[in-house]
Amino acid sequence: MTTWAIVVAAGRGERFGGPKLQTVLNGRRALEWSVDAARAACDGVVLVVASGDDPGVDVDRCVPGGATRSDSVRAGLAAIPDDADVIVVHDAARPAARASLFDAVIAAVRAGADAAIPGVPVTDTIKRVDGDVVVDTPDRSSLIAVQTPQAFGAAALRAAHADAGDATDDAALVERRGGRVVVVPGDASNRKLTAPDDVAALERALM
Ligand code: CTP
Ligand code: MG
Repeated sequence: MTTWAIVVAAGRGERFGGPKLQTVLNGRRALEWSVDAARAACDGVVLVVASGDDPGVDVDRCVPGGATRSDSVRAGLAAIPDDADVIVVHDAARPAARASLFDAVIAAVRAGADAAIPGVPVTDTIKRVDGDVVVDTPDRSSLIAVQTPQAFGAAALRAAHADAGDATDDAALVERRGGRVVVVPGDASNRKLTAPDDVAALERALM
C-alpha cells in the first residue's frame, strides 16, 4: 500500500501579481513548505511546475503542468507509479497545510471513501447570482469551504480524470461520477496564497 502526492505548482499567480510560490514565508519559500508537508505524509511526491521552471526542491518526480489546474493534475497523475493505491492532490499555494491534515484525508480514504477533502464552515452568507441579480441564498449551515490536501482512491482519481474534465477541485470530478466524497475537519489557518495580503496571515500560521 503506497500513498503518493501530486503537488500542483504550475499556475501563473495572476491575482498575486507574479510567481507567488517563490514567496519567502518565515525563511522558506511557499513551494518548500508545501512539498515538505506532502513528503512527510506520503511515500512519494510528484511536483507539477510550469514548463521550464527549476523548482529547486527535492521531489521524486517533476513534470510540466498544463493550461488549467485540472490539466496540471492530469500531468502529475501520469507520473504516479502504478502501485500507488492512495493519491493526494495538494495545491502548492497552501503552504500552511499540516502533515496531520494529510494524514486525516488519507485515513478517510483508507477507511473506504472514494475521496476525502478538508472543509471549514462558511462564515459569509453566500448567494447564487445571475449577473448582478440574486437567484437564491443557500442555507449556510449546509455549506463548507473546501481546501487541499484532497485524498483519493487511485482508481477513483484516475477514472475521474479519464475524460479530461475540468473543475476547480478534483473531488468535483469524482462527485460527477457518483463517487463517495467525505469531508474531514479542515484547518482555518490552511489558507491559500492567492493575493499579497495573504502573506502576513500565512506567516503567522507558519510560526
Ligand atoms: N495550478 C497549476 N496549473 C494551472 C493552474 C493552477 O498547477 N494551470 C496550481 C497553482 O500553482 C496553485 C493551485 O493550482 O498551487 C491553485 O491555483 P491558484 O491558487 O488559482 O493559483 P494560480 O492559478 O497560480 O493563481 P491565479 O489563478 O491567480 O493565476
Ligand atoms: Mg488559478
